[in-house]
Amino acid sequence: MTSVKYEKDQDKIVHLILDKPNASANLMDLEFTDSLVAAVEKLREDDWAGVLFRSEKSTFFAGGSLDDLHATTKENAHLLYEMVNKLKLVMRELETSGKPVVACINGAALGGGWELALACHHRIALNKGVTLGLPEVTLGLLPGGGGVIRMSRLLGLQAALPYLTEGKQFKPEQGQKLGLIDEVVETKDQLVNAAISWIKANPKVQQPYDVKGYKVPGGKPSNPALAKMLPIAPAMMRVQTKGTMPAPESILSVMVEGLQVDIDSAMRIETRYFVELVCSQVAKNMIGTLWFQLNEIKAGASRPDNIEKSKVQKVGVLGAGMMGAGIAFSSASKGIDVVLKDVSLENAEKGKAYSQTLLDKKVKKKRLSAEKRDAVLNSIQASADAEDLKGCDLIIEAVFEDRGLKAKVTKEAEAQLESSAVFATNTSTLPITGLAEASERPANFVGLHFFSPVDKMPLVEIICGEQTSDETLAKAYDYVLQIGKTPIVVNDSRGFFTSRVFGTFANEGIAMLGEGMPAAAIENGAFLAGYPVGPLAVTDEVSLTLVEKIRNQTIKDLQAEGGTYPIHPSDSIVDRMLETDRSGKLSGAGFYDYPKGAKKHLWSGLKEMFENAETPYSLEEIKDRLLYIQAIETVRCVEEKVLTSVRDANIGSIMGIGYPIWTGGILQFINQTGLTEFIKRADELTEQCGERFSVPKLLRDMEKDGLTFKD
Ligand code: NAI
Repeated sequence: MTSVKYEKDQDKIVHLILDKPNASANLMDLEFTDSLVAAVEKLREDDWAGVLFRSEKSTFFAGGSLDDLHATTKENAHLLYEMVNKLKLVMRELETSGKPVVACINGAALGGGWELALACHHRIALNKGVTLGLPEVTLGLLPGGGGVIRMSRLLGLQAALPYLTEGKQFKPEQGQKLGLIDEVVETKDQLVNAAISWIKANPKVQQPYDVKGYKVPGGKPSNPALAKMLPIAPAMMRVQTKGTMPAPESILSVMVEGLQVDIDSAMRIETRYFVELVCSQVAKNMIGTLWFQLNEIKAGASRPDNIEKSKVQKVGVLGAGMMGAGIAFSSASKGIDVVLKDVSLENAEKGKAYSQTLLDKKVKKKRLSAEKRDAVLNSIQASADAEDLKGCDLIIEAVFEDRGLKAKVTKEAEAQLESSAVFATNTSTLPITGLAEASERPANFVGLHFFSPVDKMPLVEIICGEQTSDETLAKAYDYVLQIGKTPIVVNDSRGFFTSRVFGTFANEGIAMLGEGMPAAAIENGAFLAGYPVGPLAVTDEVSLTLVEKIRNQTIKDLQAEGGTYPIHPSDSIVDRMLETDRSGKLSGAGFYDYPKGAKKHLWSGLKEMFENAETPYSLEEIKDRLLYIQAIETVRCVEEKVLTSVRDANIGSIMGIGYPIWTGGILQFINQTGLTEFIKRADELTEQCGERFSVPKLLRDMEKDGLTFKD
């Protein structure tokens, strides 16, 4: 079996046809390496004029085999090292053969695919359906197939940075502007014909960087202008990664080190850093969660089986406020008709205007045509009349967080609907089973918890009430995928999974402030742990008034259930802030000050009100308290069966509530810490901070049985 077919035409041009057997895409794996090595060995014996690479798949080449990379450990890393070196040597042999080698890029060429194309002398791409780039960094890796070395030499260090350290992708036209794509054509036939013509016209070629006297754009690291920038670059990178991501740092090292030596040595440097990253815990975390678990979710892992796939044609959104307006936009953008209903037409139109603003921006940036914008806008009907909801197959309610009001609009909408329609609520805190009591058809009732801002946030938490049917869950799941977002599925509980676990983060940060720790240390501790935003800043965003409101509602609900509210040390701090009229960002005054036209900064009054020079603290403690409190609450969610899958916990925590990406998600954080170590530290924190850190029995049992979190 070969992944590279060898065909020579009448002009002595060898077509190396990429076609991995029994697979939907071409992969850079051992089979491919052996196939390419065999093809190059055959070329050595053959009389040939040029080579063109083309693919028999709908994409050009999908890149490295993540199965293989995920399975690589320090013990067998030498095998990967040897394979990569072997592959790079034959790619190098081809590009230094003196004869022309062309890539015919018919579809996506990402990662290894783009690296293969880079090793060719001439790159021709179809003008449609082609995405190019090196996204390895987004999975904690670096392009190990020569990508870092060739991009740095072709573009220069500075220009190549975003494509390598951020994984920025690009289209063929942009590739042409960068000088990385030589020709763009319309059809597959033209691809091959253009390649043949170019080979015939250029019988003797060299890569630009192999030509004597080649100057790397912007110069080598010894160039004074570049040398001046180099000490700053790692510092700037640290601002972004806070030192939690080894991949961008390794990439920068390969770029700088690689430009100081000859290309063959540079290739070896790249391979060494690559193999080291592949074996790193962070890469394992990111590949495991952001590749394997995410793909399982996209393939419907948490969706009930044996229920036919559904598609929403018309959705009714109740409430055209911040969330409703975003939900309307996200649905209409994917071709779904929307009725956006509020109490007045004026309110509804205001909600629709949000879509107009977002779409206009896209048109201005040339990312959308004016016709497409108008079509999306025309598919949103602003309304104040419940009768307009007739014909909707899904309703999403996003009115104020008020039980009575939600019950009223549920009844009002259901009166207009077919019995098969699904009714979803976007409540952020109210249990679904209780809200479903207002419904005539509780089996069709479900929670669809979006995150703000809806147009940017990729996650939707689907919450099943006690009576939610499998059909309803399946329809909700299909809808979330239909609008291009990622669904996780959880069972009903106060705050579900995400709001509940998110709350522990904010509360812990506020509690530390109450203990007398400096606010700046708390916020910085969160950044250093890898959180995108600190607990005080995020509480300001949510607003302290809302935090207080949710607490009061919880106290009321618990009293009604005969339970008692467990007072949290953050409660009194929130109250004191509110007494001082500091309710958050919206009012311009919270834990931060929000001066007009300037950057926000921590409110100086916090020092006087809360800071205590006697309070001992360390950044390590702050990081641990935030990471652990959320993880412990998540284990409680698993124990209470609010969460039923590890992937939903990991993906939900990263995409919904900003749990640090390097961890691979909240349960993976426990796995990699090791259960014994995790429990030991949690016990210390319980001793120091209180019962909220006490480890659920489930985790102690798992530790005894030597288990980890796995689906
Ligand atoms: P909002 O205050 O921006 O909007 C609520 C809208 O509902 C207003 O436009 C109001 O006029 C409208 N409304 C009131 N009564 C109505 C009725 N009888 N019929 C139709 N519309 C009516 O509120 P927001 O922030 O959009 O929140 C809506 C829901 O989404 C709440 O349940 C909230 O808990 C939930 N949620 C909010 C998130 C957030 O970050 N703001 C995140 C996730 C969920």
